[in-house]
Amino acid sequence: MHIYFHEKTKTFHLQNDTISYIMTVLPNGHMGQLYYGKRIHDREDFGYLLETAMRSHSAYIADDNTNYSLEHLRQEYPSYGSSDFRQGAIEVLQENGSRISDFVYEGYETCGGKPVLPGLPATYTEDDSEAETLRIFLKDPINGLELTLLYTIFNEGGVIARSACIKNTGEQNVHLLKALSVCLDLPDANYEMIQFSGSWARERYPEYRRLHTGIQSVGSMRGHSSHQQNPFIVLKRPETTEFMGEAMGLSLVYSGNFLAQVDVDTYNTTRVTMGIHPEWFDWKLEPGESFQTPEAVIVFSKDGLNGMSNTFHKLYRTRLARGVWRDRTRPILINNWEATYFDFNEEKLVKIASKAKECGVELFVLDDGWFGARRSDYAGLGDWVPAHELLPNGIKGLSEKIEALGMKFGLWIEPEMINPDSDLYRAHPEWILSVPERRASLSRHQWVLDFSRKDVVDHIHGMIAKILRESKISYIKWDMNRSITECYSKALPADRQGEVFHRYILGVYDLYERLTSEFPEILFESCAGGGARFDPGMLYYAPQAWTSDDTDAVERMKIQYGTSYCYPVSSMGSHVSAVPNHQVDRLTPLKTRADVAYFGTFGYELDLNKLSAEEQEEVKVYTQFMKDHRELIQHGTFYRLQSPFTCNEPAWMVVSPDKKEALVAYFRILSKVNEEFKRLRLAGLDPELCYSVDGKAVRYGDELMNAGLVTSNSTSGVTFPECEPAGDFKSELFYLKACE
Ligand code: GLA
Repeated sequence: MHIYFHEKTKTFHLQNDTISYIMTVLPNGHMGQLYYGKRIHDREDFGYLLETAMRSHSAYIADDNTNYSLEHLRQEYPSYGSSDFRQGAIEVLQENGSRISDFVYEGYETCGGKPVLPGLPATYTEDDSEAETLRIFLKDPINGLELTLLYTIFNEGGVIARSACIKNTGEQNVHLLKALSVCLDLPDANYEMIQFSGSWARERYPEYRRLHTGIQSVGSMRGHSSHQQNPFIVLKRPETTEFMGEAMGLSLVYSGNFLAQVDVDTYNTTRVTMGIHPEWFDWKLEPGESFQTPEAVIVFSKDGLNGMSNTFHKLYRTRLARGVWRDRTRPILINNWEATYFDFNEEKLVKIASKAKECGVELFVLDDGWFGARRSDYAGLGDWVPAHELLPNGIKGLSEKIEALGMKFGLWIEPEMINPDSDLYRAHPEWILSVPERRASLSRHQWVLDFSRKDVVDHIHGMIAKILRESKISYIKWDMNRSITECYSKALPADRQGEVFHRYILGVYDLYERLTSEFPEILFESCAGGGARFDPGMLYYAPQAWTSDDTDAVERMKIQYGTSYCYPVSSMGSHVSAVPNHQVDRLTPLKTRADVAYFGTFGYELDLNKLSAEEQEEVKVYTQFMKDHRELIQHGTFYRLQSPFTCNEPAWMVVSPDKKEALVAYFRILSKVNEEFKRLRLAGLDPELCYSVDGKAVRYGDELMNAGLVTSNSTSGVTFPECEPAGDFKSELFYLKACE
C-alpha cells in the first residue's frame, strides 16, 4: 500500500495490491478524478486520462480555454453552478445569499493509520501499518471555508474510506445545505445498480436496474437508515456474477437520513454521491466551527459480488465493530418476545429460562414490557424502572435468579422513545421532537425524544446506567420502533432547525459511546422494529443487530441473503421461533429453522416448554451444533451460492480462514417430484486439499468447486444425506473437513 504524490503533475495515486485510486489537481485548482479500479502501474503523468473538449453550449471557466468546462470533468468534491450543472457534493449558503463556492487546492498531508472522526462511527486501524491516510486541503478564499478531503487506503482489499471536513475560517456565518461524504465520477455508465429495499419484515431485498440517463437514487428521510432502503449500493458490470467481474460497493457509516445517488449525464459519465440526505439539512457554521461528514466506505472487487462482500465482511467485522465482543463468538440466547409478548411475570420468565438452560442456551433476554406502566405498547416508554407487579425482585432480583441457573441475563430497552402515557412525558412534555402548537404524529402510540438535546440524553443515560450498574446484565437489545416526524427541537433557534436530524443521531451515538465505554463487557445488539437501523453506523457500537422481525425460516433466507451483500454473518441476529410462524403462519421443520438461524448469531424466540419432549431433544442437538461450529460460521468467509430470490434451492457456505473446514447450507423451498439431478458448485475451498464430506465421502476441493457437490441421489453411487423427497421447506447442511 502506498500513497504517491507526483509534484510536477500534482497527481495523487493511492495504490495497494488490489486497487488504484488516482486524482489530480485540475488547472483551476479543483480536484479531478482520474481512475478508480483494479491496481495499475504508477506513473508521473496520468494527464491523458483527463479528457476535455469544446462542446457547444457548455460554460467554461475562462475565455482562453473553451475546452475547460467543469460539466465535462470528473471531480472529487464538486459544487453546482460554476459551469458544472450536475448536482454537487457541497452547497454553502453565504450571507449575501450566494450558493456558489470554489474550493481550490492548497496542499496535502499523509499519515500512517487512520484518524478518528470525532463523535462519529468510522472504520479504524489498530496499527498504523494497516492503512495510510491522505488529507487534501482546499480553500475558498471568498467565503473563507477550508475543505479537507480525507482518504484512507487500507493495506488489504479494495477499500477506500472517504469523508470531508469543512471549517469556517472566515468572518461570516454560513449554512451548509449539503455536505456529502463521497463523490465518485466514473468515465462510463455501463453498470447495473443494486439497492437493498424493503419494508418491515422484508428488509434488504436486492433490486437491480440498468443505469439510465438521469438521476436514480435511494435514501431515507425517516430519521434512521430505515426498513425501506439501506445506506449501501452496488454498481456492477452487467456481466458481473457472484464470482466474476467488477463490482463496486458504496456504504455509508451512518444511521440517520441518507442519500445514495447515481447521476448519468448524456455523455454517459456516471456521478455517484452518498452522504447525509441534503433534504432538510441546513447546518449553520459560525466562524471557527467545523463540520465533519460521516464516512463512506467504497470497495472495489474484480472477483464479483462475493469478492466485494468478503471485503466488507472482514473490514466491518474486524475494523468497524469494536469492543470485547468483536472477536468473540456470540452467546446462544433465548428471547421471550414471541414466547410471551407483554404477558409475563417473574415466574413465567424463570420457567422459560430454566428449560432453555436445560437445552444448552447461554443467555436469557427479557424483551419489552418490564418497566413502568408498560403492560401494552400504549404506555411506559421513558420510565426505565422495573414494574414491581411483574418483577417483585426487580431486574436485579431476576438477573440474579437467571445467573443462579448458570445463564447470563440480557435486557431490552428503547431509550429514544416516550409514550404520551408516561411519567417522563408528564414531567417533560418539551422533551419530544415536535413543532410548537402543531399536532405531533404518533407511531406505535409513541413519540421520539429530542436526542439533539444533551439534557435529554443525560437523563436517559442516568436511568439506563443505574439499572446496568445495579443488576447483572450481560447483554442489551437497543430498539427504536418508529420513524421521526415533525422534526423540530424546542432547544434550538429557528436558524438551526435544519440540524436536528443530524444532531439527533449524534445524540444516539453519544449515548451508545457512554454506555459501551462504561460497560465494556456488555454485548449490545441494535434493533429498530427488526432491521430498520441495520447499518454500519450501528455496527460500530453494537457488533450485532436484529435482522428482521420476520422470524420465518423461508422469509429469513431472503432477508439474510440480501443483508449479506454488505454485512457479516456475525452481525445478523437470527432466532429459531415457533410454528405456525407468528408473521406468516407457515409451518417449517425445526431443523430448517435451525439451519437458517445458524448463519447469524443464533438463538431462540419461543417457549421451549411448549415443545414436545422429542423436539426438546432436537433443540439440545442444534444448540450443541452451533456451539461446535460458531467459530467457523461467525469468523469464516461467507459465500452466496444460489439465491432464494431466483431459485428453489438457495444455498450458501462458510469456509474457515485456513480453508480446512467448511459448512454448506442447502435449502429446498418447495418439494418437487421426479426432478432432475442437482449439483451445487462450492466456493472458497483449497483446490488441492481433500475434504471429507460429512465423514461419508472424500472429495478434492477442485472437484467440489468445479464438478460440484451432488445433492441428489445420483447414479454415480454417491449418496449424501437424503435431501430429496417429502415435504416443503427442507434443508441440509454439509460439513467439510480437510483430511489429514
Ligand atoms: C420491536 C422488535 C421486536 C420486539 C418488539 C418489542 O418490534 O423488533 O423484536 O423487541 O419491538 O416491542
